Amino acid sequence: MYRTHTCGELRLADKGSKVTLAGWVQKSRRLGGMTFIDLRDRYGITQLVVEADSPAAAAAEELGREFVIQAEGEVIERESRNAKIPTGDIEIKVSAINILNRSVTPPFTIEENSDGGEDLRARYRYLDLRRPPLQRALALRHRLAHEIRSYLDAQGFMEIETPYLIKSTPEGARDFVVPSRMNPGTFYALPQSPQTFKQLLMVAGYDRYFQIVRCFRDEDLRADRQPEFTQIDCEMSFVEQEDVLSTFEGMMRSVFKGALGVDIPNPIPRMSWADAMDSYGSDKPDIRFGMKFNDVTAQVKGFGFPVFDAAEYVGAIVVPGCAGYTRKQLDELTEWVKRPQVGAKGLVYVKCNEDGSIKSSIDKFYTPEQLKALAESCSAASGDLILMLCGPRRKTQTQLGVLRIEMGGRLGLRDPKVFAPLWIVDFPLLEWSEEDGRFYAMHHPFTSPKPEHLDWFYSDKKEDLERVCANAYDFVLNGNELGGGSIRIHDAGMQSRMFEVLGISAEEADYKFGFIINAFKFGAPPHGGLAFGFDRLCALFGGQETIRDYIAFPKNNQGRDVMIDSPSKIDDAQMEELFLASTVKE
Ligand code: AMO
Repeated sequence: MYRTHTCGELRLADKGSKVTLAGWVQKSRRLGGMTFIDLRDRYGITQLVVEADSPAAAAAEELGREFVIQAEGEVIERESRNAKIPTGDIEIKVSAINILNRSVTPPFTIEENSDGGEDLRARYRYLDLRRPPLQRALALRHRLAHEIRSYLDAQGFMEIETPYLIKSTPEGARDFVVPSRMNPGTFYALPQSPQTFKQLLMVAGYDRYFQIVRCFRDEDLRADRQPEFTQIDCEMSFVEQEDVLSTFEGMMRSVFKGALGVDIPNPIPRMSWADAMDSYGSDKPDIRFGMKFNDVTAQVKGFGFPVFDAAEYVGAIVVPGCAGYTRKQLDELTEWVKRPQVGAKGLVYVKCNEDGSIKSSIDKFYTPEQLKALAESCSAASGDLILMLCGPRRKTQTQLGVLRIEMGGRLGLRDPKVFAPLWIVDFPLLEWSEEDGRFYAMHHPFTSPKPEHLDWFYSDKKEDLERVCANAYDFVLNGNELGGGSIRIHDAGMQSRMFEVLGISAEEADYKFGFIINAFKFGAPPHGGLAFGFDRLCALFGGQETIRDYIAFPKNNQGRDVMIDSPSKIDDAQMEELFLASTVKE
């Protein structure tokens, strides 16, 4: 037996016990003839003490960081207690040390906070994973997966695996492809989601399906995006939107309670896509704080300020308590909104000073009374700062949304320990692309239009089609899109119409999705579902916005795994066997 206890287990109540521990040497220091060793495993740290006359003294002298050892001894009470760790009241008076394995000096400190940079830690991910923050992150991930499985199992959902070597899926990112040796010149695509398979499972009669499943998307990476990521993918038959929303509200409520002990609002609030855009300039609004938009277009036009007079839309947010912003701070903020990431042309401010006076960047065009009326209509109080952007409606709202999030952050209103979930509903079915001169599906082409909008759906007019809303919904948490789904089209005729609207020819539809169109001819039940981003869920539960620490072996921003050095070249023989030729110039 290598150990009787873990390194996180022993307490004062164990005083006098003879124990054997095994783990990694985090630190070893000599003090007045004695050696103190911090022995670590994933359960915690226990202090070992080796006295000068101990039979283990010689072995103790040899120890270096990250050596793997086994230590035998007696649990004794510590003289100087360490209140910071659960084992801090005791130490082990060591009688024998067995060095199980040696370690070269690790490239960074493996402690709660490391001195290693991100790249270095990525290269030695297995060492970084020894650190408590990463171990906590993976433990949380495990706990959440467990909670989700048991909730869905209790609701009658079956976990069914679907293939990874498939054909292009309809999620709209680029596919990762895999050449087929047995079928020269052809490729599999890795699934961007199991979307088509879960719909086929509905046709097959498995009316409550779920899968915690890897998905692959070749897209630009961000803090909350990885090329391979995990979804909690779900689908149900004989359901309407309401059934899906209530089932997964239940799941979220149970997971929040089970993993964090947090009660989330019941019911979870809902907001239409149009309201979300008009009030927050985002389809994933962070509703932990207010600062909703005021549409002041009508109020500010016609006073000779050319920029406002020419604008389709003028929107204002009220930033509480910021009237004291200096000229320098306002200039800095103006530069900030002009950065390409925000893209505004300029920023107008109105300061509602504590003394009741008003100061603005548009004093030339508006009287103090007019500005006061503006402040009143925005419900601004003295001490508040009004910030305004103008331009084309949706574009300006999006920019104002970015500014709102920035100001919320600056004011500390985005507390990661506060959870504000929200359903966004009534998405438009279609999105017009000026560039391509065609419609794209806002969610994916299997999403159904609202029954009350079917006349518009079958109309040939662009403005009718633009008005069609979808039976689609997103689950938003603290300004992050955590999940999304829809009630699907289950009628072959309606599916063909959808492809037609998207400008996908019958031949192309048949080539790409013939299998599912065909399946729909064999009694497809009404069905719908959704998928949550599991990595994002874990990160948000852990109070982070970047998902990388919640994935054991993630990729970096260039999509590389620097530990195993992948992607990498394959040799000529393998290329030939796969019928591939590279066009990359060396
Ligand atoms: P969607 O494309 O909205 O829907 O994806 C569902 C959720 O997956 C997460 N997600 C990601 N997480 C990390 N890295 C990525 N690259 C990434 N891309 C997406 C998001 C997102 O909300 N088949 C549909 C679902 C359905 O209709 O049932 C789908 O995949 O949290």
